[in-house]
Amino acid sequence: MMYSYEELKAFVNSCTKCPLSQTRNKPVMGRGSLKPQILFVAEAPGNSEDRDGIPFTGRSGKILDELLKHVGLSREEIYLTNVVKCHPPNNRDPRPEEQEACIPYLKYETYLLKPKIIVCLGRIAAQRIISPGYRISREHGTFLYRKDTWLTAVYHPSAILRDPVKMEETKQDFERIVEKLF
Ligand code: URA
Ligand code: SF4
Repeated sequence: MMYSYEELKAFVNSCTKCPLSQTRNKPVMGRGSLKPQILFVAEAPGNSEDRDGIPFTGRSGKILDELLKHVGLSREEIYLTNVVKCHPPNNRDPRPEEQEACIPYLKYETYLLKPKIIVCLGRIAAQRIISPGYRISREHGTFLYRKDTWLTAVYHPSAILRDPVKMEETKQDFERIVEKLF
């Protein structure tokens, strides 16, 4: 059975497949271009996103916007989503069983969007999408090619908020991501 993007969004918005459905305010479906060259995948909605139902509306979003601007990209031409679509209480890491329950939505988003590059934002996404032993501090900014798609990871914007020194390296990683488009 094939579902449209709008159908997928409706499933997410009424999903009760894992316990996060009991504590969330709003599910946070991904958003952006439906024909993006780059798909960004983060971990899970935070407090602002849970309030708004939109990815990256909080402080991390400001960092992400700065990185996008650095390479001349806008939110309208990329697509932004998360491994789990509902906010974990107290911003704890999403549990493996929550990730398992939610990952089919990300897989279907990826199938519909067919990005040229998938950029994992942070360790949780990188370990889920690239490999379980992914080491973000060592491997960020490196690329691998799998199933017609470039995969890479960068520091999560919240890691940059905690340690602003990471901004410069991450800008360089974004420059390399954009080079892959040509
Ligand atoms: N942090 C995330 O991992 N995802 C969001 O959507 C916002 C903040
Ligand atoms: Fe459904 Fe994912 Fe939300 Fe769990 S996190 S309730 S699987 S949308």
